[in-house]
Amino acid sequence: MTERQQTELLAVLGAGVMGVGIAALALGHGVPVVLVDVDPDALTRAAEAVPLRIRQGQLLGKLPREATVPQLVTTTSLDEVRQATVVVEAVVEVPAVKAKVLGEVSELVAPGTPVVTNTSGIPVDELAGHTARPADVLGAHFMNPPYLIRTVEVIRGPRTSEAALARALELLTVLDRESIVVGDGPGFVINRILQRMINESARIVQEGIASHEDVDSLFQGCLGHTTGPLATADLIGLDNVVDSLRVLHERTGDAGYAPCDLLLNKVAAGDFGRKSGRGFYAYAP
Ligand code: NAI
Repeated sequence: MTERQQTELLAVLGAGVMGVGIAALALGHGVPVVLVDVDPDALTRAAEAVPLRIRQGQLLGKLPREATVPQLVTTTSLDEVRQATVVVEAVVEVPAVKAKVLGEVSELVAPGTPVVTNTSGIPVDELAGHTARPADVLGAHFMNPPYLIRTVEVIRGPRTSEAALARALELLTVLDRESIVVGDGPGFVINRILQRMINESARIVQEGIASHEDVDSLFQGCLGHTTGPLATADLIGLDNVVDSLRVLHERTGDAGYAPCDLLLNKVAAGDFGRKSGRGFYAYAP
């Protein structure tokens, strides 16, 4: 393990789909992680899931096999992030929840510690405005699963400092990620396009124009996409898709982002996609 990896301590806030994946990515590259969640059950599940994700990444050749995997620390106490050298926030896509947790964490860590949000689409500067040090805040939109997908959309807010951006990019390099830095705005690049595409695809199914399988098969067969938009939505989590669409709708005023009834009904029924076993498709446990 390099000295660089040993001197890093990554705090990951939120032990859900993305928090688990980001923790696996960092640990798999030898970077110690403290994983925080308000829900102790989420931490128990995470402690089981992270080693499996690391193993999967190693077997697929996406994580180094020779890395010494540090111990994962899980906690419900935000206080334990004080020593972190970088913070990645991956709590639910609810602006008020993110604003609160980012505000609290920015008071705890040392000035100059990059506070990175994994938000799907809340403008970084809006979140930075709730923190003690907006210059330390930036976005890193990891794709799911973060330990398998190499490219990260990095968002530089108007107040993000050069130093915070440079520090975060350094860590992403240690984690063998390719960073593409973009400007701020609702949904940034990927989700401004992707969430609209998912919503429109679901609306097409709702209107009976095509089945979910046929929508996905058209994107795969005709456009060469590896995964169709509705299978992608299941992978993201339909609850997260609806939250992201609401953020985009509220911040752009564009009615095309208002989540369609089919998505709302699936979420109300608890059909969140892969993580609940059923979404547009059914999944084996
Ligand atoms: P999730 O719903 O699987 O997990 C969220 C976790 O945050 C839960 O375990 C919850 O208990 C925890 N949490 C809630 N409030 C908290 C607080 N105050 N402090 C600590 N933990 C708290 O959500 P998921 O899918 O992991 O998404 C997390 C973030 O990543 C969201 O902002 C989402 O938009 C973004 N994202 C999601 C992607 C996906 O494919 N699921 C892809 C890229 C970004």
